[in-house]
Amino acid sequence: MIEKRVAVITGGASGIGKETAIKFASKGDRVVVADFNEQLGDETVAQIIADGGEAIFVKTDVSKYEDVESLIQKTVDTYGRIDVMFNNAGIGRVTPVLDLDMKDYHRVINVNQHGVAHGIIAAGKKMRELGIKGVIINTASVFGFLASPGTFAYHASKGAVIMMTKSAALELSVHGIRVVAVAPGAVDTPIIQGYKDKGMIDDMKRKVMGNKLTQPEQVADTVYLLSLPEASAINGSVVMADEGFAS
Ligand code: NAI
Repeated sequence: MIEKRVAVITGGASGIGKETAIKFASKGDRVVVADFNEQLGDETVAQIIADGGEAIFVKTDVSKYEDVESLIQKTVDTYGRIDVMFNNAGIGRVTPVLDLDMKDYHRVINVNQHGVAHGIIAAGKKMRELGIKGVIINTASVFGFLASPGTFAYHASKGAVIMMTKSAALELSVHGIRVVAVAPGAVDTPIIQGYKDKGMIDDMKRKVMGNKLTQPEQVADTVYLLSLPEASAINGSVVMADEGFAS
């Protein structure tokens, strides 16, 4: 009997992460929803179980390495393996660079950049230890390539995610572990629904083919495709799930 795959999804309580958790579970994978929002995380797990899937919630702050290490250990203690690590938790702050509070700058880097590094390292070590030829998928962004006013720390963090993906892919390939990134454009989730300046959302829509926001389910579909063995040649790559987002 083929063992079910086990997928860990950070930021799995909301938006892209939530839809990805639902997608993997609907395909028969066991899912670990990791997030620091306990209430929304529990709700996601309850929804997956109600739909006949398998999932657990593990409260995690990805900016702390110990948390991510214990998330991976809990995953293996519960399900015996880890096949997919989706490093997706992320935050944004919109402030002109010269008005940026350094605490906010560090928070964005700690979650978006260090959180992904923690996930790559903790999951990569465990996959190597267990001899699992898994896949690590990181959420980058079009903002890892394109500059936009007011999102200085976010650009820095997503640029780092892109290069961490390429660097880790190079080193982990000897263990049969792939590392890839998905780069969404403008996705209809709380992260941008919360923009105080609604003109920014209209501006983002105009940059996308069809003048609309991408739905989180569409990004989840891309992440699922990247996780499949059929995507074995996609390694160290950043796959745009941005519907042509232009600068
Ligand atoms: P979201 O706000 O709906 O989801 C983010 C999730 O991450 C939330 O559940 C939140 O509780 C969790 N989270 C935040 N900090 C955390 C931490 N320290 N530890 C654990 N969990 C934490 O936003 P969305 O849009 O689903 O974002 C997911 C990823 O997609 C982020 O990395 C974001 O930067 C990226 N992205 C989003 C785009 C968009 O237009 N919505 C575009 C490009 C990239």
